[in-house]
Amino acid sequence: MMIIKRPLESVVVIDRQGDMGVFDTMNDAIESAHIAQKEYSKYNISKREEIIESFKNELRNHIEELSMMTYNETGMGRYEDKILKNKLALDKTPGVEDLNIIDSEGNNNGSFYELAPFGVIGAIAPSTNPTETIINNSISMLASGNTVVFSPHPGAKKVSSYTVQLINSAIIKAGGPKNLVVTIKEPSTNNTNIMLKHEKVIMICATGGQNIVKIALSSGKKTIGAGAGNPPVIVDETADIEKAAKDIIDGCSFDNNLPCIAEKEIIVINKVANDLKKHMSKNLALEIKDKEILKRLERLLITKNGTLNKKYVGKNADYIMNSVGVKIDSNIKVIFVEVDKNHLFAQKELMMPILPLIRVLNIDEAIKVAVELEHGNKHTAIMHSRSSENLNKFTQAIDTTIFVKNAPSYAGIGYGTKCTSTFTIAGPTGEGLTTAKTFARKKKCVYADSIAN
Ligand code: COA
Repeated sequence: MMIIKRPLESVVVIDRQGDMGVFDTMNDAIESAHIAQKEYSKYNISKREEIIESFKNELRNHIEELSMMTYNETGMGRYEDKILKNKLALDKTPGVEDLNIIDSEGNNNGSFYELAPFGVIGAIAPSTNPTETIINNSISMLASGNTVVFSPHPGAKKVSSYTVQLINSAIIKAGGPKNLVVTIKEPSTNNTNIMLKHEKVIMICATGGQNIVKIALSSGKKTIGAGAGNPPVIVDETADIEKAAKDIIDGCSFDNNLPCIAEKEIIVINKVANDLKKHMSKNLALEIKDKEILKRLERLLITKNGTLNKKYVGKNADYIMNSVGVKIDSNIKVIFVEVDKNHLFAQKELMMPILPLIRVLNIDEAIKVAVELEHGNKHTAIMHSRSSENLNKFTQAIDTTIFVKNAPSYAGIGYGTKCTSTFTIAGPTGEGLTTAKTFARKKKCVYADSIAN
């Protein structure tokens, strides 16, 4: 605690120590993370692992609480899916094992590469996966020896602060330094700008909506940008249609379609389209055929100036339908509508359990439409097919960071598979699925012997 005197002789108490990593000002948060990084840089890999394990173990006791807090604070998604997402972040984010010393030029060539920390990383976290991103980024960034300042989305500030406090108290309890992970009480665009410009923040990692990622990319610092996707799923005539329908509904409805990897539009070959629709309906999806109701949905979800009505992002299907005066069973997971590729429901990433379906004549048309709708985000694409030729054609054409074959989209972030997980998928800046290695500098060390030779 520090006491400063104001001109009017009033005495104000300012907590520059932070409250378990949560600070009043961005400058104090950064300075504290900077001091912490100096101390942390003395920790070897196994000590770092101990630190990371300490907070992972603590957070495992709070998964339900964090999931409920997120649901209550953001009003988006599904509590039970948030539990699964938090578990994924805790259990499947690679830690120090992702780092290794790389022999640069074969054996005994007198040099090797070492992976070193950047220092203090400024991380922007979204409201769609707030705790998952903080957990995932903290594991990756601390594993490579950095400390991290989070600028969370203002719409998830309470649960984000609480997550940072849990991480800090666990690290301190385990004998580690304070302030390895910090944040601010009142996140805002202004505070984010302070972070982007601060000389002690060496690297930026922005996970969020398009605007905030764009702002981060103009910081002039090394920036990892993980922004929006609009993942298309293709179903061709060779697919197991029954399985495809179930996988699509499971993936699309996961946390009410909030994940950036979730199926956002279906492109299906005409020959199997009706069969697919029939099986989707068996999996708690409801088709809206009535043109008048579709019009009402369009007016509700897209504003007059063509932007997304954010009020409905991550809401349940029955809530959305109620809002256009249609009562449906609350068990319905997804609403689907048949539209053409230019429809705004297909062109825009809705992040709602509203799934446009586009009929095409053949695989070439399907791929063309899917590539157009992905908008070059290089994020995620999904395909259901038994034809390796078609699968290869689509992978090559769409060139996304994640390509999921014959499974729900969430397989791409490790759910239901043996893969590792990340919540920061950096398409635009090319790092792809971020891990500890992404946040490490490659240094070369040359032995005296090799110089003499
Ligand atoms: N820190 C500080 N400010 C932030 C912020 C952050 N982490 N994230 C957003 N903001 C700011 C925005 O710049 C915006 O400021 P402005 O009004 O001055 O322009 C404001 O907070 C509102 O943010 P925004 O996200 O645009 O609006 P919203 O809260 O109404 O929208 C969503 C909610 C969910 C629709 C939107 O955040 C979104 O599209 N998220 C996608 C996230 C995503 O999936 N990313 C990819 C993950 S891999």
